[in-house]
Amino acid sequence: MSLVKIVGIGHYCPENTVSNDQLSNLVDTSHEWIVKRTGICERKISKGESTVDLAVKASINAMKMAKCSPQDIDLIVVATTSPDRIMPSTACSVQSILGCDNAAAFDISAACSGFLYASIIANSLIKNGEGSKALVIGSEVLSRIIDWNDRNTCVLFGDGAGAAILEVSTDNSGIISTYFGSDGKTGTKALTANQFPIKTPFADASLKREEYLQMDGREVFKFAISIIPKVVKKLLEDSGEDISNIKYIIPHQANVRIIDDAAKKLNISKDKFYINLESYGNTSAASVPIAFSEAVNKGLLNKGDKIILVAFGGGLTWAGILLEW
Ligand code: UT7
Repeated sequence: MSLVKIVGIGHYCPENTVSNDQLSNLVDTSHEWIVKRTGICERKISKGESTVDLAVKASINAMKMAKCSPQDIDLIVVATTSPDRIMPSTACSVQSILGCDNAAAFDISAACSGFLYASIIANSLIKNGEGSKALVIGSEVLSRIIDWNDRNTCVLFGDGAGAAILEVSTDNSGIISTYFGSDGKTGTKALTANQFPIKTPFADASLKREEYLQMDGREVFKFAISIIPKVVKKLLEDSGEDISNIKYIIPHQANVRIIDDAAKKLNISKDKFYINLESYGNTSAASVPIAFSEAVNKGLLNKGDKIILVAFGGGLTWAGILLEW
């Protein structure tokens, strides 16, 4: 059976850049601490653009590269943890603005693994004949669910969107292997954001829920450094590839120390990882496609290069894709 291929990739981030120094005016932190513990120097923070706005702009860039029109798209899958509203879905709003009149559109929720979950779903649906061209998007305005008084989390995250066009490959290159999973059993408390508290007259008023994003950083860190090597090894095993044939690993951009540790565990140079978290922070579902798109824009990928995309996040969830560009 023919492979499914990413034929277009694009990203868009808000222009507004917030430096570590600016954050040190909000909470008890410093540029030195943030850089040393995470590698992040600055992030893009929306001044009003919505999750849909970012998704639309990233999609236009991806469609440009794929040389396709909105009418060609028959599947839109959006991954987001920070939708503008519960209903309609972000995907339907994107469909409406872009005029993708022929598409079925829906959102998925898998936190920072979301873009790769969405790509794996689109890959399967296309292979199943449920459509021939998919627009897959990771878009986040996380700044709206961040507690800007919490130094443990507010220094880590940023806003942005990335998008990809997937279709049946005509040249035997494309998505070679995929792997995803989740651990709700032990992982549901590690990373949470309760946006919609129950406020009915019937609700127990004593049951207060924290509405902002909360994270047990050390727990997520431990999970991340074990899951990245596991996902990479599984993708290599399933595809029969050797790591020496992989041009780049494009990981979820959460913390450079996580990437350092993964490189050590995989016994490879850190240079094999494409890293841009210093400029964007952690943009959750948008992080992998923004990095992927940036690497392509910089001309770092040539036709035939094999790359691995790998992500982990709230849930806890994980996902990876090995593909030939
Ligand atoms: O996509 C979601 C995935 N999320 C992640 O991948 C996050 C994974 N976790 C991490 O990246 C790291 O655990 C953090 C960056 C969140 C924290 O780094 P850490 O080295 O694990 O620090 P820590 O939580 O052990 O805290 C060390 C100290 C604490 O002070 P005490 O208790 O030693 O006095 C914190 O209160 O650093 C303090 N601290 C800060 N200090 C200055 C925590 N945040 C800050 C801050 N500025 N922003």
